[in-house]
Amino acid sequence: MLTVQNLNVFYGSLQALHDVSLEVREGEFVTLIGSNGAGKTTLLRTISGLLAPASGEITFRGERLNGLSTHDICERGLIQVPEGRELFPRMSVVDNLDIGAYPPPARRQRLQSREEVFRLLPRLEERRNQDAGTLSGGEQQMLAIGRALMARPSLLMLDEPSLGLAPILVKHIMEILQELNRQGLTILLVSQEVRLALSLADRAYVLENGRIIRSGTGRELLADTGIVSAYLGL
Ligand SMILES: Nc1ncnc2c1ncn2[C@@H]1O[C@H](COP(=O)(O)OP(=O)(O)OP(=O)(O)O)[C@@H](O)[C@H]1O
Ligand SMILES: [Mg+2]
Repeated sequence: MLTVQNLNVFYGSLQALHDVSLEVREGEFVTLIGSNGAGKTTLLRTISGLLAPASGEITFRGERLNGLSTHDICERGLIQVPEGRELFPRMSVVDNLDIGAYPPPARRQRLQSREEVFRLLPRLEERRNQDAGTLSGGEQQMLAIGRALMARPSLLMLDEPSLGLAPILVKHIMEILQELNRQGLTILLVSQEVRLALSLADRAYVLENGRIIRSGTGRELLADTGIVSAYLGL
Protein backbone atom coordinates (compact mmCIF):
# COMPACT_ATOMS: atom_id res chain seq x y z
CA MET A 1 0.00 0.00 0.00
CA LEU A 2 2.78 2.40 1.04
CA THR A 3 6.32 1.90 -0.23
CA VAL A 4 9.30 4.02 0.71
CA GLN A 5 12.49 3.36 -1.22
CA ASN A 6 15.99 4.66 -0.52
CA LEU A 7 14.84 7.89 1.04
CA ASN A 8 17.48 10.52 1.84
CA VAL A 9 16.42 13.65 3.73
CA PHE A 10 18.56 16.60 4.86
CA TYR A 11 18.11 19.60 7.12
CA GLY A 12 20.66 21.92 5.54
CA SER A 13 23.90 19.97 5.66
CA LEU A 14 22.65 17.52 8.32
CA GLN A 15 21.47 14.24 6.84
CA ALA A 16 18.49 13.02 8.92
CA LEU A 17 17.53 9.94 6.86
CA HIS A 18 19.93 7.63 5.01
CA ASP A 19 18.57 5.30 2.34
CA VAL A 20 15.45 4.49 4.33
CA SER A 21 13.17 1.85 2.82
CA LEU A 22 10.00 0.45 4.29
CA GLU A 23 6.68 -0.96 3.29
CA VAL A 24 3.20 -1.01 4.78
CA ARG A 25 0.76 -3.51 3.28
CA GLU A 26 -2.99 -3.05 3.14
CA GLY A 27 -4.60 -3.93 6.48
CA GLU A 28 -1.33 -4.10 8.39
CA PHE A 29 -0.46 -2.58 11.75
CA VAL A 30 3.18 -1.51 11.45
CA THR A 31 5.21 0.22 14.12
CA LEU A 32 8.38 2.30 13.83
CA ILE A 33 10.57 2.48 16.92
CA GLY A 34 13.86 4.23 17.66
CA SER A 35 15.57 6.53 20.13
CA ASN A 36 15.06 10.28 20.39
CA GLY A 37 16.47 11.99 17.33
CA ALA A 38 16.52 8.79 15.25
CA GLY A 39 14.48 10.43 12.46
CA LYS A 40 10.99 8.99 13.07
CA THR A 41 9.16 12.31 12.85
CA THR A 42 11.28 13.28 9.84
CA LEU A 43 10.21 10.10 8.07
CA LEU A 44 6.49 10.62 8.74
CA ARG A 45 6.70 14.28 7.73
CA THR A 46 8.44 13.35 4.49
CA ILE A 47 5.78 10.75 3.67
CA SER A 48 3.08 13.37 4.38
CA GLY A 49 4.74 15.81 1.96
CA LEU A 50 5.79 18.32 4.63
CA LEU A 51 9.49 17.75 3.87
CA ALA A 52 11.00 17.19 0.44
CA PRO A 53 13.47 14.30 0.17
CA ALA A 54 16.81 14.84 -1.60
CA SER A 55 16.33 11.44 -3.25
CA GLY A 56 14.25 8.31 -2.98
CA GLU A 57 10.74 7.37 -3.88
CA ILE A 58 7.45 7.20 -1.99
CA THR A 59 4.48 5.45 -3.54
CA PHE A 60 0.97 4.99 -2.17
CA ARG A 61 -1.43 2.58 -3.87
CA GLY A 62 0.86 2.48 -6.89
CA GLU A 63 1.02 6.24 -7.30
CA ARG A 64 4.19 8.27 -6.80
CA LEU A 65 3.75 10.84 -4.02
CA ASN A 66 7.00 12.79 -4.54
CA GLY A 67 6.22 16.38 -5.39
CA LEU A 68 2.55 16.24 -4.35
CA SER A 69 1.31 18.75 -1.77
CA THR A 70 0.25 17.58 1.69
CA HIS A 71 -3.26 18.45 0.68
CA ASP A 72 -3.13 16.14 -2.35
CA ILE A 73 -1.61 13.40 -0.22
CA CYS A 74 -4.41 13.73 2.39
CA GLU A 75 -7.00 13.55 -0.35
CA ARG A 76 -5.60 10.17 -1.34
CA GLY A 77 -6.39 8.82 2.13
CA LEU A 78 -2.96 9.03 3.74
CA ILE A 79 -3.45 10.99 6.97
CA GLN A 80 -1.02 11.82 9.77
CA VAL A 81 -1.73 12.53 13.42
CA PRO A 82 1.16 14.91 14.15
CA GLU A 83 3.53 14.78 17.10
CA GLY A 84 2.12 17.20 19.69
CA ARG A 85 -1.47 17.05 18.37
CA GLU A 86 -1.66 20.53 16.81
CA LEU A 87 -5.28 21.20 17.78
CA PHE A 88 -6.99 24.60 17.70
CA PRO A 89 -7.26 25.27 21.45
CA ARG A 90 -9.91 28.01 21.27
CA MET A 91 -12.23 26.08 19.02
CA SER A 92 -14.71 23.49 20.23
CA VAL A 93 -14.28 19.75 19.97
CA VAL A 94 -16.84 19.57 17.16
CA ASP A 95 -15.18 22.38 15.19
CA ASN A 96 -11.79 20.73 15.55
CA LEU A 97 -13.27 17.48 14.29
CA ASP A 98 -14.90 19.18 11.32
CA ILE A 99 -11.58 20.70 10.26
CA GLY A 100 -10.37 17.14 9.72
CA ALA A 101 -13.13 16.56 7.17
CA TYR A 102 -11.71 18.91 4.55
CA PRO A 103 -11.13 16.58 1.57
CA PRO A 104 -14.35 16.98 -0.48
CA PRO A 105 -15.54 13.34 -0.18
CA ALA A 106 -14.93 13.46 3.58
CA ARG A 107 -16.83 16.74 3.81
CA ARG A 108 -19.89 15.13 2.26
CA GLN A 109 -19.78 12.31 4.84
CA ARG A 110 -18.98 14.60 7.74
CA LEU A 111 -22.04 13.91 9.90
CA GLN A 112 -21.73 10.17 9.49
CA SER A 113 -17.99 10.32 10.28
CA ARG A 114 -18.70 12.35 13.38
CA GLU A 115 -21.16 9.73 14.62
CA GLU A 116 -18.54 7.04 14.01
CA VAL A 117 -15.89 9.03 15.89
CA PHE A 118 -18.27 9.60 18.82
CA ARG A 119 -19.09 5.89 18.93
CA LEU A 120 -15.39 5.04 19.09
CA LEU A 121 -14.47 7.92 21.44
CA PRO A 122 -17.57 8.65 23.56
CA ARG A 123 -15.65 11.10 25.75
CA LEU A 124 -15.48 13.47 22.79
CA GLU A 125 -19.24 13.51 22.46
CA GLU A 126 -19.63 14.40 26.14
CA ARG A 127 -17.21 17.29 25.55
CA ARG A 128 -18.44 18.28 22.12
CA ASN A 129 -18.95 22.00 22.80
CA GLN A 130 -15.95 22.44 25.08
CA ASP A 131 -12.86 24.30 23.81
CA ALA A 132 -10.13 21.87 22.78
CA GLY A 133 -7.57 23.73 24.92
CA THR A 134 -9.50 22.87 28.10
CA LEU A 135 -9.46 19.10 27.48
CA SER A 136 -7.14 16.84 29.45
CA GLY A 137 -4.02 15.52 27.72
CA GLY A 138 -5.62 12.16 27.01
CA GLU A 139 -8.79 13.76 25.69
CA GLN A 140 -6.73 16.03 23.42
CA GLN A 141 -4.95 13.03 22.01
CA MET A 142 -8.31 11.35 21.34
CA LEU A 143 -9.44 14.52 19.61
CA ALA A 144 -6.33 14.51 17.42
CA ILE A 145 -7.09 10.91 16.43
CA GLY A 146 -10.77 11.74 15.91
CA ARG A 147 -9.89 14.68 13.71
CA ALA A 148 -7.67 12.47 11.55
CA LEU A 149 -10.48 9.91 11.23
CA MET A 150 -12.81 12.65 9.96
CA ALA A 151 -10.68 12.75 6.80
CA ARG A 152 -11.68 9.10 6.22
CA PRO A 153 -8.12 7.77 5.91
CA SER A 154 -7.21 4.42 4.43
CA LEU A 155 -3.77 4.65 6.04
CA LEU A 156 -3.31 6.44 9.36
CA MET A 157 0.17 7.48 10.51
CA LEU A 158 0.52 8.44 14.18
CA ASP A 159 3.55 10.16 15.73
CA GLU A 160 3.81 9.15 19.39
CA PRO A 161 0.12 9.43 20.27
CA SER A 162 0.70 8.25 23.82
CA LEU A 163 3.50 10.64 24.76
CA GLY A 164 3.08 12.01 28.28
CA LEU A 165 -0.05 10.02 29.08
CA ALA A 166 -0.65 7.87 32.15
CA PRO A 167 -0.19 4.12 31.58
CA ILE A 168 -3.92 3.42 31.64
CA LEU A 169 -4.54 6.00 28.91
CA VAL A 170 -1.62 4.70 26.87
CA LYS A 171 -3.28 1.31 26.94
CA HIS A 172 -6.64 2.82 26.02
CA ILE A 173 -5.20 4.68 23.02
CA MET A 174 -3.48 1.49 21.84
CA GLU A 175 -6.76 -0.44 22.18
CA ILE A 176 -8.48 2.18 20.04
CA LEU A 177 -5.80 1.78 17.37
CA GLN A 178 -6.17 -1.97 17.52
CA GLU A 179 -9.94 -1.66 17.09
CA LEU A 180 -9.50 0.68 14.11
CA ASN A 181 -7.08 -1.79 12.55
CA ARG A 182 -9.60 -4.60 13.07
CA GLN A 183 -12.16 -2.47 11.24
CA GLY A 184 -9.79 -2.38 8.26
CA LEU A 185 -7.72 0.76 8.77
CA THR A 186 -4.03 0.35 7.92
CA ILE A 187 -1.76 1.84 10.59
CA LEU A 188 1.82 3.10 10.78
CA LEU A 189 2.55 3.95 14.41
CA VAL A 190 5.61 5.72 15.83
CA SER A 191 5.80 4.92 19.52
CA GLN A 192 8.12 5.03 22.50
CA GLU A 193 5.88 2.43 24.12
CA VAL A 194 8.12 -0.19 22.60
CA ARG A 195 6.84 -3.30 24.32
CA LEU A 196 3.18 -2.47 23.81
CA ALA A 197 3.69 -1.34 20.22
CA LEU A 198 5.64 -4.49 19.31
CA SER A 199 3.03 -6.71 20.94
CA LEU A 200 0.25 -5.10 18.85
CA ALA A 201 2.07 -4.71 15.55
CA ASP A 202 2.10 -7.19 12.70
CA ARG A 203 5.54 -5.89 11.74
CA ALA A 204 8.04 -3.37 13.01
CA TYR A 205 11.04 -1.33 11.86
CA VAL A 206 13.83 0.01 14.03
CA LEU A 207 15.28 3.38 13.02
CA GLU A 208 18.64 4.48 14.45
CA ASN A 209 20.62 7.57 13.43
CA GLY A 210 18.50 7.91 10.32
CA ARG A 211 18.95 4.31 9.19
CA ILE A 212 16.64 1.30 9.36
CA ILE A 213 18.72 -1.19 11.34
CA ARG A 214 16.19 -3.98 11.89
CA SER A 215 12.78 -5.11 10.74
CA GLY A 216 10.64 -8.13 11.43
CA THR A 217 7.40 -9.22 12.98
CA GLY A 218 6.52 -7.63 16.31
CA ARG A 219 7.06 -11.00 17.93
CA GLU A 220 10.51 -11.45 16.38
CA LEU A 221 11.70 -8.09 17.62
CA LEU A 222 10.26 -8.69 21.09
CA ALA A 223 12.25 -11.93 21.21
CA ASP A 224 15.45 -10.16 20.13
CA THR A 225 17.61 -9.59 23.20
CA GLY A 226 19.52 -6.75 21.49
CA ILE A 227 16.32 -4.83 20.82
CA VAL A 228 14.98 -5.54 24.27
CA SER A 229 18.11 -4.27 26.01
CA ALA A 230 18.43 -1.22 23.73
CA TYR A 231 14.82 -0.05 23.93
CA LEU A 232 13.25 -1.64 26.95
CA GLY A 233 16.07 -0.97 29.39
CA LEU A 234 16.34 -4.58 30.58
N1 LIG B 1 13.77 21.47 11.51
C1 LIG B 1 14.94 20.88 11.75
N2 LIG B 1 16.11 21.48 11.47
C2 LIG B 1 17.29 20.89 11.70
N3 LIG B 1 17.43 19.65 12.21
C3 LIG B 1 16.30 19.00 12.52
C4 LIG B 1 14.99 19.55 12.31
N4 LIG B 1 14.06 18.66 12.72
C5 LIG B 1 14.75 17.60 13.15
N5 LIG B 1 16.09 17.78 13.05
C6 LIG B 1 17.15 16.83 13.42
O1 LIG B 1 16.94 15.63 12.69
C7 LIG B 1 17.15 14.48 13.52
C8 LIG B 1 15.90 13.61 13.52
O2 LIG B 1 14.85 14.31 14.21
P1 LIG B 1 13.38 13.71 14.35
O3 LIG B 1 12.55 14.75 14.95
O4 LIG B 1 12.98 13.14 13.05
O5 LIG B 1 13.64 12.51 15.38
P2 LIG B 1 12.61 11.57 16.14
O6 LIG B 1 13.07 10.15 15.91
O7 LIG B 1 11.23 11.92 15.78
O8 LIG B 1 12.91 11.92 17.67
P3 LIG B 1 11.92 11.98 18.96
O9 LIG B 1 11.77 10.57 19.43
O10 LIG B 1 12.70 12.80 19.94
O11 LIG B 1 10.64 12.60 18.53
C9 LIG B 1 17.53 15.03 14.88
O12 LIG B 1 18.93 14.98 14.98
C10 LIG B 1 17.04 16.46 14.88
O13 LIG B 1 17.85 17.28 15.68
MG1 LIG C 1 9.61 12.64 16.86
